[in-house]
Amino acid sequence: MVDIHSHICYDVDDGSRSIEESLAMLQIAIEGGTTDIVATPHSDLKFHFKPELVRERIATMQERIGDKIRIHRGCDFHLFFDNIRNCLEDRTNYTINGKRYLMVEFSEASIPKTIDEVFSSFLQKEITPVITHPERNALLMARLPDMVKWIRAGCLVQVTGASFTGRFGKSAEANARRLMDRKMVHFVASDAHDTEWRPPDLSVPRKIVADEWGEGMAQRLFETFPRIALTEQYIDCEDPEEVSEKKSWFSFFKK
Ligand SMILES: [Fe+2]
Repeated sequence: MVDIHSHICYDVDDGSRSIEESLAMLQIAIEGGTTDIVATPHSDLKFHFKPELVRERIATMQERIGDKIRIHRGCDFHLFFDNIRNCLEDRTNYTINGKRYLMVEFSEASIPKTIDEVFSSFLQKEITPVITHPERNALLMARLPDMVKWIRAGCLVQVTGASFTGRFGKSAEANARRLMDRKMVHFVASDAHDTEWRPPDLSVPRKIVADEWGEGMAQRLFETFPRIALTEQYIDCEDPEEVSEKKSWFSFFKK
């Protein structure tokens, strides 16, 4: 499997706190069947993103863990002015392996009014925004018609593996299933932060997805699509189901 969202890079954000913790997390990923993992430290107002430091830490972790797993470079990109401007000027520090795919995390408090323009600017610059874990964000779940619109424009969606197991609560679990049923999920990743509460083990979520939506779907979301996201290639995905505004609000209040 290929895990495109993790906080295994030590001492840069609220993820791993030491090289030892990172190595223990990588060992969990290996044992769970992950062959490639992307280190995606936060780039937000609290945790200043330092791409050179991330490169150095990845090299150190790779040297210590050996060739049982490959560690790739990425970023957990938050939507604020300087971040957006810097990424539009030079995407290579923020995107996965400096290629096309950008992990975009929305605030739980508000969605930028200019989000359509921001996504449009990214797509014009050959940056594919990957909306991270919308199943854990009530504002995004209330905007499913917009999510469909963004996917049709070229954005993709990543769900957190542990949402399928109920670790993030019943609401996130139900939302993950709703997104799956509407063909609005393109990646499942761990968003791992540690070895206990949020470990980088995708084996159980993969089994749940294979059991409920079939082996072919599990193959696409845990392996085929995330492996393409390590490269410059495009992902050819299904059209999401149409969601009416009315149905979306109804679903939101039903949660
Ligand atoms: Fe994250």
